[in-house]
Amino acid sequence: MSQATFDKVCEHARETAMLRSVTELLEWDERTKMPPAAGEYRAEQITYLSSKTHQRHTDPQLGAWLNELAETDLAADPNSDAGATIRQMRREYDKLTKVPQRLVEELTRLSVLGQQAWVEARKNDDFAAFSPLLEKIVKLKREQADAVGYEECCYDALLDDYEPGETTKNVTAVLEGLRKDLVPLVAAIAESSKKPDMEILKRTYPIPAQEEFGTQAAKAIGFEFNRGRLDVTHHPFCCGMGPNDTRLTTRYDENFFPSSFFSILHEAGHGIYDQGLRTEQFGLPPGMYLSLGIHESQSRMWENMVGRSETFWQHFFSPAQATFPDALTGVSRDDFYFAINDVRPSLIRVEADEATYNLHIIIRFELEQALINDGLAIADLPDAWNQKYRDYLGIEPPNDADGVLQDVHWSAALIGYFPTYALGNLYSAQFFAQAGQDVGPLDEQFARGQFTPLLDWLREKIHSPGQRYPANDLIANVTGKPLSHQPLIGYLRAKYTPLYNLG
Ligand code: CO
Repeated sequence: MSQATFDKVCEHARETAMLRSVTELLEWDERTKMPPAAGEYRAEQITYLSSKTHQRHTDPQLGAWLNELAETDLAADPNSDAGATIRQMRREYDKLTKVPQRLVEELTRLSVLGQQAWVEARKNDDFAAFSPLLEKIVKLKREQADAVGYEECCYDALLDDYEPGETTKNVTAVLEGLRKDLVPLVAAIAESSKKPDMEILKRTYPIPAQEEFGTQAAKAIGFEFNRGRLDVTHHPFCCGMGPNDTRLTTRYDENFFPSSFFSILHEAGHGIYDQGLRTEQFGLPPGMYLSLGIHESQSRMWENMVGRSETFWQHFFSPAQATFPDALTGVSRDDFYFAINDVRPSLIRVEADEATYNLHIIIRFELEQALINDGLAIADLPDAWNQKYRDYLGIEPPNDADGVLQDVHWSAALIGYFPTYALGNLYSAQFFAQAGQDVGPLDEQFARGQFTPLLDWLREKIHSPGQRYPANDLIANVTGKPLSHQPLIGYLRAKYTPLYNLG
């Protein structure tokens, strides 16, 4: 009896996933291949399919089936495949049905208008022109949080959309610890007289050679091209649109090597996670990624902890010299390694290095809480932004375009999203330290071009469980400890102390 109901729930979820994957294929096409004039009809297609998906997610029949399953043996172990399916679908259903349709539509409309207004406002460096829309977005996000409900603060409900089960209190504690250790480390690096020669990376790196080299590196770390692709786009992303169909994208800059290479490793890291999810569970929670933070931990690990490591380049520097003879002949591996690990306080988050990046996120996380929980007035936001850049990074934006207006997120009603980037870095360091203990020494393996021991460890511990455990349980299960900023700060100190001759 309950098995038959469970089968219906699974079939319902798999059909919804199919609808979703068709939408993703359209979205991927829009961002890679679509002719510009097709945009209007494509928007109609995507809106239509998205509303069908939303209807299915909130289908009362699904709610009735989930009620039926609540007290059955199938739900008894919440971490079994069946138990996790019921738990997570229940969670999703409750959340989506609590938000009134009117509010969903209003937020969708405002996020479209908001992004349009933001593009203009940023171009004209005119925060005042954007602020009425931002004010409405903040108000509606508070309404959304009230509708969904929360235990401690309004922000909890918004954070939960991107990092399910995580709390503002826990993230604040971890990020405050990180900030206190990171601000002095970044200041010490900024004051160091030792600087890399960045010119090395700005020579001519022919694009076909970059594509070949990046593809070979993505293959070497474990991305499978028989069930994935790499294409060109404006803003690189990864799309896991089907059980055997994962699309990576990048952009090439002939005169800046890191731009495509590290974005390929980053997106390949996301793609390796998608490819590591169990295909037979596709569309069901045990076959879905756990959270944005966990997803980002995989991309950051391959991009930074592996791809920007000294031993990775012990293996890859000779092939790089052979691929880019004009740029790299006569360049030492040490100089190249230092250049790709340049750290300096800067204004723009998306261009930040792996050390200062987290400070950009902490600033946004603190400001979002001030807006949502503490009623910071929109008019006071630019000053609050600039003050935090002075305090944490020692620099000040010359204008709002490169300050408070630089990111698209708030204009798209994505409030609560930013902390997942920092969580990704934190998870990544904690997993990486554990992988080193379990299957290390990783650096010796990387130097020999061996990435399979790390890959297999990630497959088993992080990828194949999907959503069977909440992220905090996964961290504790895999590393034996709750989330902490110590592994990340330890990793950064160990890496940058010798590079910058820090005392
Ligand atoms: Co990413």
